[in-house]
Amino acid sequence: MDTPHMADFVCPVITIDGPTASGKGTVAHRVAKHLGFHYLDSGALYRLTALLAKQKGVSLDDESAIAALARVLPCRFVHGHVFLDEVDVTDAVRAEAVGVAASQIAVLPAVRQALVDLQVAFRYAPGLVADGRDMGTVIFPDATLKVFLTASAQARASRRYKQLIEKGIAANMEDLVKDLTERDARDSSRATAPLKPAPGAFILDTSAINAEQAVAQVLAWYAEAPKP
Ligand code: C5P
Repeated sequence: MDTPHMADFVCPVITIDGPTASGKGTVAHRVAKHLGFHYLDSGALYRLTALLAKQKGVSLDDESAIAALARVLPCRFVHGHVFLDEVDVTDAVRAEAVGVAASQIAVLPAVRQALVDLQVAFRYAPGLVADGRDMGTVIFPDATLKVFLTASAQARASRRYKQLIEKGIAANMEDLVKDLTERDARDSSRATAPLKPAPGAFILDTSAINAEQAVAQVLAWYAEAPKP
């Protein structure tokens, strides 16, 4: 009888892609917790790269310099906290300005390529839930279940508004809608890995449902999905 090789064991992956503030972070995190799977917040990698570039004074359109930073990104994820070198940057990476900078460097193909291995390395037993823009289309095209979360710009802006106000950060609805719409346009229109549903993805509109309902739907789809 043949001895199975490690390479024969493929871990299940659930990909959750969608536009900014569609609720994918919350949903992906809860689904991962429910299943006991690892969780990849791929947007954090783009945010960390942008933050590092800003700290080092690298221009956000210097593709090769930013790709060089991304290739050896000194990041660690520990119990919900994100570290860049030894510094806890959990709050700093969530800042709106860092999100905007992340979406600017995310259009650069060499930067996206530099982050591929790091993302793929998150896939190990017992399984992974990965959230982002291109998880189902580019990084994990063989995912067990692919979900595309959407919500109206208005619903997403009001969610983001609530989050910011809760954190004591001043926010303005009009600016948020404008920022979201611009970021969506940049993410959807870029040549490399544009934001779009992967072939075979289940589309879930979260405008009128809460996180709990969205999680229940994803778990129901996963229960039905053929496993590797
Ligand atoms: O999801 P989050 O808002 O943290 O992502 C920040 C930015 O990083 C996005 O606007 C997008 O431009 C980029 N991104 C990406 N591909 C991913 C995840 C994030 O291009 N898989």
